[in-house]
Amino acid sequence: MKKYNVAVVGATGAVGEQLLSILAQREFPVDQVHALASTRSAGKKIRFGDRELEVGDLADFDFTNTQIGLFSAGAGISREYAPKAAAQGCIVIDNTSQYRYEDNIPLVVPEVNAEQIARYENCGIIANPNCSTIQMVVALKPIHDAVGIERLNVATYQAVSGTGKEAIDELDQQTRNIIDGKSVDCEVYPKQIAFNALPHIDVFMDNGYTKEEMKMVWETRKIMGDDTIQVNPTTVRIPVVNGHSEAVHLELKAPLSAEQAKRLLAEAPGIQVVDDREDGGYPTAATEGDGTDAVYVGRIREDISHPRGLNMWVVSDNLRKGAALNSIQIAEILVRDFI
Ligand code: A2P
Repeated sequence: MKKYNVAVVGATGAVGEQLLSILAQREFPVDQVHALASTRSAGKKIRFGDRELEVGDLADFDFTNTQIGLFSAGAGISREYAPKAAAQGCIVIDNTSQYRYEDNIPLVVPEVNAEQIARYENCGIIANPNCSTIQMVVALKPIHDAVGIERLNVATYQAVSGTGKEAIDELDQQTRNIIDGKSVDCEVYPKQIAFNALPHIDVFMDNGYTKEEMKMVWETRKIMGDDTIQVNPTTVRIPVVNGHSEAVHLELKAPLSAEQAKRLLAEAPGIQVVDDREDGGYPTAATEGDGTDAVYVGRIREDISHPRGLNMWVVSDNLRKGAALNSIQIAEILVRDFI
């Protein structure tokens, strides 16, 4: 079996750790694995399955003999290094927002638009969507294929791990301080995140939405290949360590019963329906999402205020399906079909 040299850029970060762990778990056909980060981390040791890797400095890494680069070190790093890696013959799967909206760069969720992976040849870069969009479009796809989605309202309940390791530490520290009756320091988030909810993710845009919200608008249309879908998001950070939840309210082109929707979702790839109308009969971030691969859908019900409305609750591990796992699924298709 052919083996590939793979570089993980941002290997010491929250997503980078998951990339290494999922590559090992899924027995991706690796030969050499290069764990890369900033100069600060160079020389550190990290685990890859039963191997130990020494972290290399991205700044002086040569991608010439590396076939796949999994980038997750922030948009600025991808802006600088992804084109360099691609020019050296390394196919970049980029988990930042840097290239998602460029027409000639595919934006891929394998369960939705795997056929777009072939377009990696344009620039040598494939973009991995934003975490909150990935889990939502996996759940939208079977419904859109069946009856069409005209519009959707979505409110997200997003975990701090999506911000990175420093945010997990800030939640931990603030929680301890509050329990101990001490004051809290806010460095990563502008307001207290412990025991709170912040209706603010990423920067504010001129139209009053945040960039995280606009990512959900732009990316949903691009991935679903349908510019007519109207998306109205509110994205909220909550004090959950890992796993995003979303309340999604669909306005369909034709009516679909909750029963029919449940059946379609249960048969769709990557989805697990958890929908019993009883105590605990729904998925949550901490109990189903965290550490697992599926997109979980529950609370499927017809909207009592709209003749073609359908509601659902969508949960997934934002570091895995929302980031690292989705990137590795793309890499698996690349090696299976293209390289
Ligand atoms: P480092 O640990 O050396 O700072 P997170 O999203 O959890 O905060 O992680 C961000 C990831 O991006 C880390 O692996 C971090 O490495 C990496 N990173 C940040 N700045 C750079 C840089 N200038 N060059 C390479 N990697 C970087």
